[in-house]
Amino acid sequence: MTATNTQPAAVTLGREVERIVAGQPTSDGAGVKLTRVLTHDLQQRLDPFLMLDAFGTDSPDDYTGGFPDHPHRGFETVTYMIDGRMRHRDSAGHEGLLSNGGVQWMTAGRGVIHSEMPEQHDGRMEGFQLWLNLAAADKMRPAWYRDIPSGEIPELRQPCATVRVIAGASHGVRGAMQRERTEPLLLDLHLAPGAVFEQPLPAAHNAFVYVYRGALAIGSRPVDTQRMAVLANTPGSDGVVLRALDAPARALLIAGAPLGEPIAQYGPFVMNTRDELMQAVHDYQSGRLAA
Ligand code: FE2
Repeated sequence: MTATNTQPAAVTLGREVERIVAGQPTSDGAGVKLTRVLTHDLQQRLDPFLMLDAFGTDSPDDYTGGFPDHPHRGFETVTYMIDGRMRHRDSAGHEGLLSNGGVQWMTAGRGVIHSEMPEQHDGRMEGFQLWLNLAAADKMRPAWYRDIPSGEIPELRQPCATVRVIAGASHGVRGAMQRERTEPLLLDLHLAPGAVFEQPLPAAHNAFVYVYRGALAIGSRPVDTQRMAVLANTPGSDGVVLRALDAPARALLIAGAPLGEPIAQYGPFVMNTRDELMQAVHDYQSGRLAA
């Protein structure tokens, strides 16, 4: 099937692809195999985003170890499950089950110690975890989280595109989450073959696309499956235009307002200075991180 989007044009000058990134195969937690798509060297370029991990496997050996108890401070994690079930427990006694199509939005703030463990022993496990930075003034806020079941994620429906609006807004559909300072946009795009989707974006916001099914064209550049396209902050641009190639395509479109602050990271702690990192380690070791 070939499809043509009938929505009125929203974007007059679309962004170009600045570079295409394959990511790095790695493992984290207790041996969970994943691809680190947004790596440390892209943190400044894609400010306020710190990391994007993609995991997808049919082999339980790749995921059963899960992510046992570990700390976080200074940023937010957004976990999006495409397939599978993951249980979350934290040091404050909160617990939630994340399953097919659901999102967990966790603000570590001053500190959380939690586990993220698969609640299945076979079958497919697929999803993403995005790390979103907090402004210096927000890093020591109390921890907070919200589980968003799949049915609570608003969807934009166009003739040949379905867009799950996890955060921000798209064509008048307000997403499940809003954040003032970083203004994150997080869309899961499902496009029919040949479908065109346009998304307005402020030129100053950093933006990227991760294709996880099929392939897209952005401007004149094809972006293959399991590739991330970093979008240029082209002066005068007002958005991005994506076109699915000859198969159904699915992709995450992620954008946000840069914080423009120093980024200091030590493992699961992301602060502004080395002293603040040392304080985080000290607080963790003395049992006061999540107190
Ligand atoms: Fe975590």
